Amino acid sequence: MAILPIAKVGNPVLRKIAEPVAPEVIPTRDYQQFIDDMFETMIEHEGIGLAAPQVSRSEQLVVMGCEGENAFPRTVLLNPRIVFYGPAQVEMWEGCLSVDGLRGKVTRPSSIRVQALDRQGQPLDFDASGLFAVCIQHEMDHLIGQLFLDRMSDLSTLTQLKEFDAYWKQEPATVI
Ligand code: NI
Repeated sequence: MAILPIAKVGNPVLRKIAEPVAPEVIPTRDYQQFIDDMFETMIEHEGIGLAAPQVSRSEQLVVMGCEGENAFPRTVLLNPRIVFYGPAQVEMWEGCLSVDGLRGKVTRPSSIRVQALDRQGQPLDFDASGLFAVCIQHEMDHLIGQLFLDRMSDLSTLTQLKEFDAYWKQEPATVI
């Protein structure tokens, strides 16, 4: 296991279109180790999601997982696609391990249907909603060179962490 270095905003790798992962690579020991390292890195930094470009590998792999109030299961998505967006939108505060110390409000569809390969290389097809759906969309944005900053419709909500804790932490997500 290894903690991988995180690419920060300004690193060109975060702006590239990620390559698909060849299915035959997925079950290899090296790739399974990489997936484990992604989880370890995400947890070390107290994130709920991490995309491979954030550790300087421009590949279509994201990992995520969240415990507690809005929990969703540990999930590995390879070569993911969103095949349906529900009509409702949700506004949530987002942050990113590649953007230190900032939060901002982003509005996204609140329910999606996703197709991908799992860490065994088997097909996945599932619906997600709420924080899980937002996290999937945030992480998949990393695969097309997009950051939550690009998705903010109102930059006046950009907030430093200390100010977030002081003024905005209790604000719930808004469903639109
Ligand atoms: Ni991110």
